Amino acid sequence: MKIEKISISYEEYGEGEKLPASDSELIDEAVKALEGSYAPYSDFHVGAALLLEDGEVIRGSNQENAAYPSGLCAERVALFYANSEHPGKAVVSLAITVKSDYFTSSEPVTPCGSCRQVIAETENRQNSKIRVIMNGDSGRTRIVDGIENLLPMMFHEEKLRKQK
Ligand code: THU
Repeated sequence: MKIEKISISYEEYGEGEKLPASDSELIDEAVKALEGSYAPYSDFHVGAALLLEDGEVIRGSNQENAAYPSGLCAERVALFYANSEHPGKAVVSLAITVKSDYFTSSEPVTPCGSCRQVIAETENRQNSKIRVIMNGDSGRTRIVDGIENLLPMMFHEEKLRKQK
């Protein structure tokens, strides 16, 4: 038996610290996306914005449903729309933010496990990494270069490739 360790890395920008312009512009788009959030059950409003390789920005927000599992997270709304309307165009970065009258988050919001899996598959399809920019009302921003930093030992669709 041996114990292996996996390390992940992220950039952290403190309150008032200047982010690269393209990252802060994408956060502004994620903030705009909050307007479309439909979250009457959780009151946890999430906005996402992704930048495509040709410069186009796609926004998404969480969409809830009285039958709870029928709703969808902001990140997947944006990613599925982008993959559906712009197949073949790589996603360069994805910014997420959160707003609620009932919660304050001391940490930047991070994508849920299912969204991480969809980000992973998008990376694998396009064969390039996605910069994930995590923001929130804490004033801090965390950024990872590639989903490997949020989903180590991920399940790859290669595992489903038929060998016969
Ligand atoms: N939510 C997102 O939109 N993205 C995440 O990564 C975490 C959770 C949404 C789903 C649900 O509408 C609400 O936040 C509470 O879980």
